[in-house]
Amino acid sequence: MQCMRKDPAMDVIGSHYSFATIDTEYFNVFNPAGSTFDLAAFDPDVILHTGALTHVDRCETHPEESFHHTVESTQAALALAEKFHSKFVYISTDYIFDGRSGPYSETDPINPISIYGKHKWQAEEIIRNTIDDHLILRITNVYGDEVRGKNFVAFVAGIAQSGEERTLRLPVDQYATPINASDVGKFACSLIKDNKRGTYNLASDEYLNRVELAKKVLGYFPASKVEIEAVSTWELGQAAPRPLMGGLKTDKIKNEYPKLKFTTVDDYMEKRYGI
Ligand SMILES: NC(=O)c1ccc[n+]([C@@H]2O[C@H](COP(=O)([O-])OP(=O)(O)OC[C@H]3O[C@@H](n4cnc5c(N)ncnc54)[C@H](OP(=O)(O)O)[C@@H]3O)[C@@H](O)[C@H]2O)c1
Repeated sequence: MQCMRKDPAMDVIGSHYSFATIDTEYFNVFNPAGSTFDLAAFDPDVILHTGALTHVDRCETHPEESFHHTVESTQAALALAEKFHSKFVYISTDYIFDGRSGPYSETDPINPISIYGKHKWQAEEIIRNTIDDHLILRITNVYGDEVRGKNFVAFVAGIAQSGEERTLRLPVDQYATPINASDVGKFACSLIKDNKRGTYNLASDEYLNRVELAKKVLGYFPASKVEIEAVSTWELGQAAPRPLMGGLKTDKIKNEYPKLKFTTVDDYMEKRYGI
């Protein structure tokens, strides 16, 4: 979760729950009193809620756990936003769509096919019905610098760099519009500063399946010993169904912010790993 005060410097406190970092405070949305910072003293203008059970296959096999971490955590965060009269910002996903005809715009019909997608949509609806001053930001396939390196791009780059000999079985039929986490932050800040409300898609213009995305990353590591085996989603036997033609269209935000640009995977790779 992030709590912000919209003074000129945009004071921000970022929080962790199970994974501490030097930049974050401990915060459990179900027990704010046990936090390492004083939320009431901070008196946030904005609460940005990221909490969810994001392991899509675990959500499918543990729906109650998914409901608790995704839906009930949102209700708990909303209660805090109501208490402090804060704007509420929520991070959602293209998994609320069925993946038959992506990429999707903000107004396309919703049809989640997994427990994760259903619970993220349920959380979205609760937000719309609770607080008028909300922003729902839909994203997919996030990558970028991250301490744990658990995003897909960082994961592939990590094993390529390690010199490990490995074959990755990747779905060639799962398409999405990957986005750099720093672009999510950049656009979120603009929307918050401009006091926008409603639902916005945030995504790059790249429409890539997992094999294409991995090959793009591996292109920066010519000595890598990583092989890719392209398989279908069906062959992977994942517990949760995936929206195959997923991804998000961004005409709405591009019209409102013509000068802001989404960056590409190559932009990130060149900056982070280029020679
Ligand atoms: N990554 C993607 O590609 C992607 C795509 C679409 C949407 N999203 C959405 O973006 C959000 C962040 O996803 P992520 O990939 O960054 O996954 P993540 O690392 O699992 O993010 C969840 C965050 O919520 C925190 N959290 C969990 N339980 C909490 C609790 N009880 N109280 C307070 N904080 C709690 C976690 O802290 P700790 O890590 O310290 O436990 C973590 O910072 C999620 O809502 C997800 O649905 C992500």
